[in-house]
Amino acid sequence: MARLLGGVTSSHIPAVGNAIANGQTQTPYWKRFFDGYEPAKAWLKKAAPDVIIVVYNDHGLNFFLDKVPTFALGCADIYENADEGWGLKPVSPFQGDAEFSWHLAESLVEQEFDICTCQEMKVDHGFVNPIRALYGTLEKWPVKAIPLAVNTVQHPVPTAARCLKLGRALGKAIASYPEDIKVVIFGTGGLSHQLQGERAGLIDVDFDLECIEKIAAEPEWMTRFSNSEIMARAGTEGIETIMWLVMRGALRDDAKVIHKHYHAPISNTGAGVLVLEN
Ligand code: DHB
Ligand code: FE
Repeated sequence: MARLLGGVTSSHIPAVGNAIANGQTQTPYWKRFFDGYEPAKAWLKKAAPDVIIVVYNDHGLNFFLDKVPTFALGCADIYENADEGWGLKPVSPFQGDAEFSWHLAESLVEQEFDICTCQEMKVDHGFVNPIRALYGTLEKWPVKAIPLAVNTVQHPVPTAARCLKLGRALGKAIASYPEDIKVVIFGTGGLSHQLQGERAGLIDVDFDLECIEKIAAEPEWMTRFSNSEIMARAGTEGIETIMWLVMRGALRDDAKVIHKHYHAPISNTGAGVLVLEN
């Protein structure tokens, strides 16, 4: 049977791709941020999953505002990255696992999560940058990857409670897959940031630190907030933090904290890393 070994959550700041591509990860500005990934990298190397499921939000690359699914699962055997600006070279394509994806889709729909299934899906910085930070930038990726996109871009956005429930359904879907594979789930985005309007540049360190603590120990805490309340505290783009709850929900309640790290500001964001082991 498939085994879910644990989960990793991380911010997915686009400037991270730029810093990696330009060899700036050890500069004074970036060093502490990238150092925060080292224990996560070590854990991931030891866990050696066959497949990662990456819960992220698309930022207008694959889905534009004319058609925005609330939850969309990649059901392909290949996912390509595309240029998002700065003239950055897209990273190598990611190998998927369509058979596993279709199992997940079937199980999620049975559990009343009527997701959109995508046999073609381009992946953006929300998917790519945490993988680059955790594995390095490689010609051939050592793991298969499945995208699960959650809409945090165009309202109405799903609630934190719904994301936690999606995670729980995903945990059941993984556990019922008959193949002997090792799986790790990533949740990307957040923590606090706002990129536009009068509050552009907003970061709330206290809220971010509380989110990291509570998502690990008491994820129901976050489900008490409405999306408006989360955005009031964490900024409009800080709503991306709800994707950490999908990762959390997939794991056991008593999952063990392996690592947590926080660094702010980096680019426009309060950036966090959390590793939980099942
Ligand atoms: C930044 C963070 C994001 O999550 C994003 O999608 C775009 C920009 C930033 O911090 O600059
Ligand atoms: Fe983002």
